Amino acid sequence: MAQITSQASDFQDRMLSLGLARVSEAAALASARLIGRGDEKAADQAAVDAMRTQLNLLDIAGVVVIGEGERDEAPMLFIGEEVGTGKGPGVDIALDPLEGTTLTAKDMPNALAVIAMGPRGSMLHAPDVYMDKLAIGPGYAPGTVSLDMSPGERIHALARAKGCKPQDIMACILERPRHEDLIAEVRETGAAIRLITDGDVAGVMHCAEPDVTGIDIYMGSGGAPEGVLAAAALKCMGGQIYGRLLFRNEDEKVRARRVGISDLDRIYSRDDMVRGDVIFAATGVTDGSLLAGIRREPGFLTTETLLMRSKTGSRRRMTYRTPVE
Ligand code: FBP
Repeated sequence: MAQITSQASDFQDRMLSLGLARVSEAAALASARLIGRGDEKAADQAAVDAMRTQLNLLDIAGVVVIGEGERDEAPMLFIGEEVGTGKGPGVDIALDPLEGTTLTAKDMPNALAVIAMGPRGSMLHAPDVYMDKLAIGPGYAPGTVSLDMSPGERIHALARAKGCKPQDIMACILERPRHEDLIAEVRETGAAIRLITDGDVAGVMHCAEPDVTGIDIYMGSGGAPEGVLAAAALKCMGGQIYGRLLFRNEDEKVRARRVGISDLDRIYSRDDMVRGDVIFAATGVTDGSLLAGIRREPGFLTTETLLMRSKTGSRRRMTYRTPVE
């Protein structure tokens, strides 16, 4: 590999961003023929292959820090895999070629292809364990809500800060048996809940545009890698996210220590998870409230991509129509 530069000033986010959009487009397009076919693995594999091929065309010396899994369990886009031509800046890459494999297999809303890129050494190397997550949108003072508050306290604190009643707050939570108490405590405050079956990157991103999505706060546990991707999105869109890793057994703690985490109880803020400038691209696979899914017409596929840069706060929505055989 060519010499790796890791200065944040070398991170040519403007130049790299359009290339990044191509990468998420390629992953989404590859999964198109598998939408609604009931085969999660095949849909994921198609997205992984296409994302990797496209990523390797970029002039970057990239390292996957959030990927498909550890080297021994993921043959492609594993954590630590070097990607790109090696001829450009040293960058960290967080990716999920198909966020919402089940959503894709069942043709349910909000499946996305997602990727984020920042200067080398700027992203949290999160192990593949669960993370307790809490997110709100832009415009609130830091610490308005915290993971140390009970779910009810968070709703009351947010309602006070928003100047409304708890009944006017909408929370978003993954529908899982482990969230039964959380759901009951939020409902006790009078707040409403939008339950989602999968896809908490989109769930968190919804908080950044409450006027569009109706969602004010995201709570609950999901994948830690998805937490870092969501932090990258909020770094571009505004808003706060807090995360604390959750461990179910000793093996998961070993995984965390292996990626350099010594304080297992630490609460990470958005800027602890993504420490520098970041660019973020997401392409819709199935229709959702953030992005349109892939459209088919005879001979063509069309995608919608959201491309964002934290440095400028810019958001670009791009439609890409491409011929298919
Ligand atoms: P996949 O695309 O890998 O299936 O992940 C979907 C997802 O819903 C994530 O958005 C979320 O973080 C995680 O799964 C939750 O995990 P679990 O299904 O174990 O509750």
